[in-house]
Amino acid sequence: MSQLKRGLFLTFEGVDGAGKSTHVGWTVEQLKSRGVNVISTREPGGTAVGEKLRELLLHESMGLECETLLMFAARVQHLREIIEPALEAGTWVVCDRFTDATFAYQGGGREMGLSRIAELEQWVHPHLQPDRTWLFDVPLEIARERLDRTREKDRFEREADAFFLRTRAVYLARAAQQAQRFSVVDATASIQEIRQSLTQQLDALVAQSRQV
Ligand SMILES: Nc1ncnc2c1ncn2[C@@H]1O[C@H](COP(=O)(O)OP(=O)(O)OP(=O)(O)O)[C@@H](O)[C@H]1O
Ligand SMILES: [Mg+2]
Repeated sequence: MSQLKRGLFLTFEGVDGAGKSTHVGWTVEQLKSRGVNVISTREPGGTAVGEKLRELLLHESMGLECETLLMFAARVQHLREIIEPALEAGTWVVCDRFTDATFAYQGGGREMGLSRIAELEQWVHPHLQPDRTWLFDVPLEIARERLDRTREKDRFEREADAFFLRTRAVYLARAAQQAQRFSVVDATASIQEIRQSLTQQLDALVAQSRQV
């Protein structure tokens, strides 16, 4: 009897405007065309209650502890309801942001520090980490310019330059510390160039997952 293989958990990270969402749907299509069962989702959000929490988190003023706890409240529901059951059923999950974003934004950007967030991570998902995390890295000016082209800004996107720089620095530090899991994408490259590089990496992941 063949045993069902656990799905892979892939996350997209980076500051606002880096280009994550531009590649999530495309990545899912690439994986589907290679015969992978896959879903895409996002944080905060991904469940009915999580999407309501997202609205609050992006638009309602609140203190830092409340913000951090709500991020993890949305996350725990997302894990239990969507992510963990999918992975166990052998479905791959592509997620637009996950716990690295809480380290970077609340820990770095908002200067909470990392230890509280590590405690919450330990509570909510002690045994789960993404199998691969793409960090879309861009300098401030480019992220700002891309955001200006798009939409009304949320609470995070309205933050000062120093917030952006601290957030980016924590992302880059985590990528350096956990180099096995992270793949840093030079997100100043064109969408086409980024997709070329992602294609190679996705091919390698699919090939690995098919080895006995
Ligand atoms: N490599 C790229 N070159 C030029 N423009 C890009 C590139 N990637 C994304 N963009 C454009 O930049 C804008 C922001 O991209 P996107 O919404 O994917 O960013 P994001 O990282 O998901 O941001 P957020 O965190 O705010 O959701 C969009 O208008 C998108 O078309
Ligand atoms: Mg996005």
